[in-house]
Amino acid sequence: MDYSSSSLISIFIIVAFTSIPIATSIPFILLHGIGNQCSHQDVTLFTEQLRNFSKSEGYCIEVGDGMWDSWFMPVEKQAEVVCDKVKEMKELGKGYNIVALSQGNLIGRGVVEFCEGGPPIKNFIALGGPHAGTASVPLCGSGALCVIADKLIKSDIYSDYVQDHLAPGGYLKLPNNIPGYLEKCRFLPKLNNEHPGERNSTYKERFTSLENLVLIMFEHDTVLIPKETSWFGYYPDGAFEPVLLPKQTKLYTEDWIGLKTLDDAGKVKFISVPGDHLGISTSDMNKYVIPYLEDKSLRKGRGIKCMTKHQLK
Ligand SMILES: *[C@@H]1O[C@H](CO)[C@@H](O)[C@H](O)[C@H]1NC(C)=O
Ligand SMILES: *[C@@H]1O[C@H](CO)[C@@H](O)[C@H](O)[C@H]1NC(C)=O
Repeated sequence: MDYSSSSLISIFIIVAFTSIPIATSIPFILLHGIGNQCSHQDVTLFTEQLRNFSKSEGYCIEVGDGMWDSWFMPVEKQAEVVCDKVKEMKELGKGYNIVALSQGNLIGRGVVEFCEGGPPIKNFIALGGPHAGTASVPLCGSGALCVIADKLIKSDIYSDYVQDHLAPGGYLKLPNNIPGYLEKCRFLPKLNNEHPGERNSTYKERFTSLENLVLIMFEHDTVLIPKETSWFGYYPDGAFEPVLLPKQTKLYTEDWIGLKTLDDAGKVKFISVPGDHLGISTSDMNKYVIPYLEDKSLRKGRGIKCMTKHQLK
């Protein structure tokens, strides 16, 4: 895409509509994935690109000390930290959007569903999120942090100790041990309202209040097992096949958290893009992420620009 001409046209549109005051755009927050932190170059660059392209303010929100806590602080605790931070940011007071990467998706949904009295959340853009769980935690690699992480991963994932000390323990869902998962996994069963008889309508109400939920799945994702978890698809209880599409799961059909309600209202976008885990191209970022972060007055400009292009053909 040609940015210089696109921004020129945007400027033209703003000038054309200049008698109408330009709405101030809604800021976004970025929640990074596991083993990462806001100060890492890939996260800094990604946040900056989102800001540049959308012309909206954006903030990478750090949990604790970053990389270490992303591995070893339980996800529910991480969501509490973010909840406290967004409540203190007066920039977000009128509402904000969330862009979430990988594990950051579960932190973000924790904020949507559990955060009492936080500012309103408008759009949730979910890149490669393990929304329905994941059947395998990728081994961390080498280094002191990874030696500890790998030890925990290989021990009993549904033990109290691992639940207290390993973030992915909160969303590792082993299809061959669903009773263990429902009984001992602390985070995801609650987030997804999976406990029969304990489905909390407040969580559902809050989740359903989103304006848009953009679920981006990576076609060649080798980190999330299965990759369809990015769309709330997952394995059936008790087996590793076949992968159920979101609409074939009980979470959807029985509408445990409001995914069906949102979808029926046209607010869920199921997007599939080429690439491995989080490997989004700039053009796909511009197509599927940026439009939800932009100022509405600029979004109008885009629509008009498209029409102009068609007319030129
Ligand atoms: C964002 O825009 C600034 C100012 O135009 C520029 O210096 C910077 O390189 C851009 N960053 C990215 C990641 O596009
Ligand atoms: C559901 O969650 C809300 C918010 O955390 C809480 O106030 C309420 O007591 C919960 N309801 C039930 C039935 O557990």
